[in-house]
Amino acid sequence: MSLKIIQVGLGMHGRGVGASFVMPSPDFEYAGLVDLNAEVLEGYAEEFSLSKQILYTDYKKAFRELDADAVFITAISPVHYQIAKEALEQNLHVLIEKPFVLTMEDAKELVQLAAERNRSLMISQNYRYLPSVATLKQTIQNCGLGSIQFVQSQFFFDHNGKGYQREMDNYILLEMSVHHIDMMRFLLDSNIASVWGKTWNYPDSGYKGDPNVNAVYQTESGINVFYLASLLAKGIPVPWEGVWKIQFEQGSVYMDDLGEGYGVYVVDAAQTKTRVPFVVPEKESIHGVLAEFAQSIREEREPAISGRDNLNTLEALLATSESSAKGVEIKL
Ligand SMILES: NC(=O)c1ccc[n+]([C@@H]2O[C@H](COP(=O)([O-])OP(=O)(O)OC[C@H]3O[C@@H](n4cnc5c(N)ncnc54)[C@H](O)[C@@H]3O)[C@@H](O)[C@H]2O)c1
Repeated sequence: MSLKIIQVGLGMHGRGVGASFVMPSPDFEYAGLVDLNAEVLEGYAEEFSLSKQILYTDYKKAFRELDADAVFITAISPVHYQIAKEALEQNLHVLIEKPFVLTMEDAKELVQLAAERNRSLMISQNYRYLPSVATLKQTIQNCGLGSIQFVQSQFFFDHNGKGYQREMDNYILLEMSVHHIDMMRFLLDSNIASVWGKTWNYPDSGYKGDPNVNAVYQTESGINVFYLASLLAKGIPVPWEGVWKIQFEQGSVYMDDLGEGYGVYVVDAAQTKTRVPFVVPEKESIHGVLAEFAQSIREEREPAISGRDNLNTLEALLATSESSAKGVEIKL
């Protein structure tokens, strides 16, 4: 039987998520749709022949009045906390778009609330379910090139940020690097232990928070990851997952374009290059997230990318900002 879900936030991302992932999901059906913008709601309901009775502009009212199991928060990042808190207090399971929330205090409060109410609290770190990322992880584990010596990760994009993004503190860290730092933890199977970070801005950038970051993360397993990213980088953009080099004792694994298109490559000590065919996860991207969220609800267990798991990703991001401001290494 399908679980009943209320989606909050029908902006650019939320509309696509609804049409491409929630509506085709075998696990969920809409119990409600919420956005501050009534016109957007009406247009969406008409486009997809949805009942107008499930449309709300006030999430608190929707959570109180609708018969639902879960909430998927796809509204702007600064309101994730207040919506998630209300949903958990109404005993609803909660799936939140990245970034989880904006402060550690809010994140820990929600993790505790979810535990007290026995609800699934999951963060949609959907990159973990991309074929490129699944292939890179499998290749790191199986390449047989010895142990890892260091990792380099880079991301460059000339992004036209949304209004809320232009006003945010920690713009690149919370809106974009959140994917890459979560990928580091996933790919290397280890939490982040410390960071040396530098973030910076330009006087007329149009962003309050820094759009550039350069940082060194050390994992609990002792691996150094050298990360450079910009959301204000004119020139050739990099795919959303970034370009990666994992240096092993006997060669390197790349996620990059080494001449045959962007993909995963292994280069051994004799400099022989092999392209690794993509491993396609059973359910890709947000399909994978929704399936895991549904399964965790049905099995009454913590989901794979729970709020609790995501605390280390958020802490590493905020520590990068703190390190930059104080000019010191921050231990997590
Ligand atoms: N996982 C990914 O790859 C990915 C990609 C893009 C965006 N996102 C995330 O999705 C979220 C939304 O991004 P977007 O690009 O759609 O933003 P957007 O500005 O296009 O839309 C946000 C929507 O939230 C609504 N909203 C704001 N406050 C609300 C409230 N209190 N109650 C109900 N609705 C409210 C707005 O009316 C708007 O329709 C952000 O957290 C962003 O980081 C994730």
